[in-house]
Amino acid sequence: MRGTLAAGKTTITKGIARALGIEETITSPTFTIVSEYEGKLHLYHIDVYRLDSSEDFVNLGSDEMLYGNGVSIIEWSEKVQSEIPKKAITISLEANADDSRTITIENWPYGDLQ
Ligand SMILES: Nc1ncnc2c1ncn2[C@@H]1O[C@H](COP(=O)(O)OP(=O)(O)OP(=O)(O)O)[C@@H](O)[C@H]1O
Ligand SMILES: [Mg+2]
Repeated sequence: MRGTLAAGKTTITKGIARALGIEETITSPTFTIVSEYEGKLHLYHIDVYRLDSSEDFVNLGSDEMLYGNGVSIIEWSEKVQSEIPKKAITISLEANADDSRTITIENWPYGDLQ
């Protein structure tokens, strides 16, 4: 998931978590880097903003998060682009002057959406 500071990445994650039936409050993982929740699917909510390199992400266990069971949502995913699977869905958020958001979803199985 891409988008500048405060674009709404964590807010979208809250919506996805709700759709997964997760009732816990979703908080920003900026300092913890990874938060895990149990719903219809396991959810890894990852924020790589504070990581220095893709290697740090690999050392955190990216393989299990990305290739195990469940869903992984990565805020600032462009920082670890080399580790992102080809079939990942990319969500890009842009804040507009009127405080609305433009949201682009790429690599969705049925075509890109905006
Ligand atoms: N679609 C939206 N429309 C209007 N305001 C929004 C929208 N999405 C998020 N916001 C507001 O923008 C602020 C930042 O949202 P959020 O924390 O989700 O951003 P973020 O991209 O995760 O930020 P960070 O880069 O710090 O992780 C919050 O106050 C939130 O309520
Ligand atoms: Mg956030």
